[in-house]
Amino acid sequence: MEKIGVLTSGGDAPGMNAAIRAVVRKGIFHGAEVYGIYYGYEGLINGTMKKMEVGSVGDIIHRGGTILYTARSERFRTEKGQKEAARQLEKYGIDKLVVIGGDGSIRGAQALTTYGIKCIGVPATIDNDIYGIDYTIGFDTALNTAIEAIDKIRDTATSHERTYVVEVMGRDAGDLALYAGIAAGAESIIIPEKEEPFSNVVERLKKARARGKKHSIILLAEGVGDGIEYGKKIQEATSYETRVTVLGHIQRGGSPSARDRVLASTLGGKAVELLLQGKSGLIVGYRNNELTAQPIDDLLSKKSTIDEKMYELSKALSY
Ligand code: F6P
Repeated sequence: MEKIGVLTSGGDAPGMNAAIRAVVRKGIFHGAEVYGIYYGYEGLINGTMKKMEVGSVGDIIHRGGTILYTARSERFRTEKGQKEAARQLEKYGIDKLVVIGGDGSIRGAQALTTYGIKCIGVPATIDNDIYGIDYTIGFDTALNTAIEAIDKIRDTATSHERTYVVEVMGRDAGDLALYAGIAAGAESIIIPEKEEPFSNVVERLKKARARGKKHSIILLAEGVGDGIEYGKKIQEATSYETRVTVLGHIQRGGSPSARDRVLASTLGGKAVELLLQGKSGLIVGYRNNELTAQPIDDLLSKKSTIDEKMYELSKALSY
């Protein structure tokens, strides 16, 4: 009997539940036993796991968060922790594992392969910061959440003729800010991957006002710096009334979009297929619109980049 473990790790992302569901159902469909491991690697070290049934993952496809809970495990960063995690899997007779999470979590999966565990990574993070993967699970939902909020901010910004700085998440990556900025029609999109002279931002704001624009929105990626400070600087430089909204963890929650549900179902199913074929050390995901399984080492040794064409487009559309 094949035994597959599944866990979610790191920051949660909408669509993780759909991915868990796909792993459990696809595994059982092919005659395997599937074990849900609770609280990520922390739970794995503690041996907190349970055999899943088809019904264990009913009524979750539309829910945000993760029914398996998640954690950022300090213990798993150590060799001792990793050994203990592998020992727990061995105890349950599990030699195959699906890890659903961001780059750090999938790096953990790679570490476990050195203990003879076959692992596949399913990329899920709102940051969309994994090299060689078009979109991570959760990014689309977070983007839609951000846009809904920015559209509302725009209403009040117009009424008061104010400038708004909206800080979005993304850790060191600017994808969320870039795409939200394009979709919400922001004047300026400030991301860590691109240097934007402050004087340019100020100049754009002034030109927009001179043209009669009633509001201005600046999209700031958290990786660039503190939104509150940035807002103060903008107000000082322009003397326009400026407010700051930090969207924060709202971006991590909520019901996953259709796109994230389908992506999560596809990638969860693919991960199981690969494990049952004896494959390991791979990340599943779309690259240039094609479903791929690429070596974890190859992808995680490179830094994710932004789509230059999209950045150029944003420059042409927002001034
Ligand atoms: O990686 C997802 C993410 O939401 C980042 O965008 C953010 O920087 C970080 O996690 C926040 O982490 P925490 O929830 O631990 O505060």
